[in-house]
Amino acid sequence: MYFTILTTLLASSTSASPTFWPITQSTSTPCHSQAISPQWHDTIVSNWQSLWAGDLIYLNQTVTPNINLLQDRFPDGNGSEPLSINNSTALLNFVRNSREGFRKYEFRDLMHFGADNLVAFRWTMEGVYAGGLPGAMAKNGTVITYNGTDIMTLDRCTGLIAEVQSSQDFITYFHELRMDIGKV
Ligand SMILES: *[C@@H]1O[C@H](CO)[C@@H](O)[C@H](O)[C@H]1NC(C)=O
Ligand SMILES: *[C@@H]1O[C@H](CO)[C@@H](O)[C@H](O)[C@H]1NC(C)=O
Ligand SMILES: *[C@@H]1O[C@H](CO)[C@@H](O)[C@H](O)[C@H]1NC(C)=O
Ligand SMILES: *[C@@H]1O[C@H](CO)[C@@H](O)[C@H](O)[C@H]1NC(C)=O
Ligand SMILES: *[C@@H]1O[C@H](CO)[C@@H](O)[C@H](O)[C@H]1NC(C)=O
Ligand SMILES: *[C@@H]1O[C@H](CO)[C@@H](O)[C@H](O)[C@H]1NC(C)=O
Repeated sequence: MYFTILTTLLASSTSASPTFWPITQSTSTPCHSQAISPQWHDTIVSNWQSLWAGDLIYLNQTVTPNINLLQDRFPDGNGSEPLSINNSTALLNFVRNSREGFRKYEFRDLMHFGADNLVAFRWTMEGVYAGGLPGAMAKNGTVITYNGTDIMTLDRCTGLIAEVQSSQDFITYFHELRMDIGKV
């Protein structure tokens, strides 16, 4: 209960956590010349997971307004199309759409590590299919799990995610959904 309240309070805060910069850094140094702390890498990965788990309130404390998400072509129910996400509104819609058809849709952290403004996040999707996705023949209730890696570039001044290069095991994903991938 208290945890829920605290999480909600943190989620509604618009400012970056004080763990963004290493504690030893002088506050007078321009943000561009400072290394981003490992604690902030943990925070931003956790925020990214929360967003994808459906806590959409995390949006603005996770990504920049002009976030770029780069990944492979995406199925559109009629073949596939290039994904084009270059702002946080488009990302929010994409997260919402991606969660459709699942009664559980979460990303567990397999590993993550960072170097200054770059963070690599290896994840495993843990989902339960709820039916209704075009072309998917998996039964309602099927457990779906597959892996992927997001490489994030953080904005040096806000610490928010400015770009994500995402590679994921789509073939496994489509097999699990028993999706007809004859026409891609
Ligand atoms: C994010 O910020 C934008 C612009 O300030 C605002 O319109 C939007 O409602 C915010 N979204 C969330 C989920 O907080
Ligand atoms: C797929 O293409 C056909 C023919 O162009 C069209 O009638 C149908 O609405 C499209 N389906 C989707 C899901 O876009
Ligand atoms: C964002 O992507 C859309 C296509 O989805 C494109 O029309 C637009 O020019 C892009 N905006 C920027 C700022 O790159
Ligand atoms: C965000 O991206 C979408 C899709 O490209 C576009 O339709 C929309 O106008 C963009 N919004 C802003 C605020 O740039
Ligand atoms: C899938 O099963 C759940 C739980 O039984 C049910 O609420 C939901 O409506 C089903 N989805 C579809 C598309 O039938
Ligand atoms: C995902 O990665 C984990 C850890 O490496 C591995 O055990 C698991 O088999 C992988 N899952 C799939 C569906 O490939």
